Amino acid sequence: MEYRNEQHKIIHGDALKVLPTLPDHSVDLIFADPPYNIGKNFNGHREKWDSEDDYLNWCYQWLDLCVQKLKPNGSFYVMTATQFMPYFDIYLRKKLEVLSRLVWYYDSSGVQAKKYYGSMYEPVLFCVKDKNNYTFNTNDILVQAKTGATRKLIDYRKAIPTVYNSEKVPGNVWEFARVRYRMDEYENHPTQKPVALLERIIKASSNKGDLVLDPFSGTFTTCYVAKELGRNSIGIEWEDEYVKIGLRRLQLAEEYKGEKLQKERRSFETKKIDVQNVPMLNLFEEQFHGTPIYQ
Ligand SMILES: C[S@@+](CC[C@H](N)C(=O)[O-])C[C@H]1O[C@@H](n2cnc3c(N)ncnc32)[C@H](O)[C@@H]1O
Repeated sequence: MEYRNEQHKIIHGDALKVLPTLPDHSVDLIFADPPYNIGKNFNGHREKWDSEDDYLNWCYQWLDLCVQKLKPNGSFYVMTATQFMPYFDIYLRKKLEVLSRLVWYYDSSGVQAKKYYGSMYEPVLFCVKDKNNYTFNTNDILVQAKTGATRKLIDYRKAIPTVYNSEKVPGNVWEFARVRYRMDEYENHPTQKPVALLERIIKASSNKGDLVLDPFSGTFTTCYVAKELGRNSIGIEWEDEYVKIGLRRLQLAEEYKGEKLQKERRSFETKKIDVQNVPMLNLFEEQFHGTPIYQ
């Protein structure tokens, strides 16, 4: 099933079946954020393969398809769990040029682990087909360089002493907050990626009018940001509930099977409770959504 306008297309289906139907060498940028094989519950669908080999073999199939769909000057960003990324890296290195091994770092005040070091990052691999011909819009993603911008230091090693640059291309550790329950962009999905993460990727690795593909769209953050930035997009997702989020975020439909598409109201938008008298409620919110509703 497809939903589309001139710039954006949502395909409701299995990525492994849908990807072969797209024209080869047609996509400028692919962002793939698959299930990580760590037992997350996607709308009742628990993503866990029988073995690591089964998971990896499934991944190798869609990785190959993504490489096939990418234009000769295209870029590919892919995520997975830390324990599987080394396999992706070794596999993709034979087919693409891996230019950066990115770390998306986030702070977390929750207790992650007690007898080992809790997980505070997710890896992202940035690859291109041709290292001599790919889009990288340096000026669109510059960040502050503290030495020049805030400390105003001067580099005396230069023939003519010069103030350090106040801006730079981001390094390979990116700090962006995870999407929390109270944030405006929050949607009801267990692994929604932040708009800020996709903004950097799409700004750097595509131009206006380019085609961006996300084979595991979830809440369609990729396609939503592509739209905001004037790119075209194709998003694939197989869960009804998430397709509905995509249709609404991309304004492709107002209804789905007779149901009006509206953003789910969060508990703090509907409840008015004196939390002083119900401390358990606050604790409940903290456990289940990560953010206390009453602070
Ligand atoms: C890690 S989430 C993606 C989250 C997304 N990046 C976002 O920002 O919301 C992976 C998504 O892939 C979907 N999915 C899993 N297997 C799929 C398949 N074979 N075809 C299409 N979608 C699939 C899941 O339902 C889930 O929403």
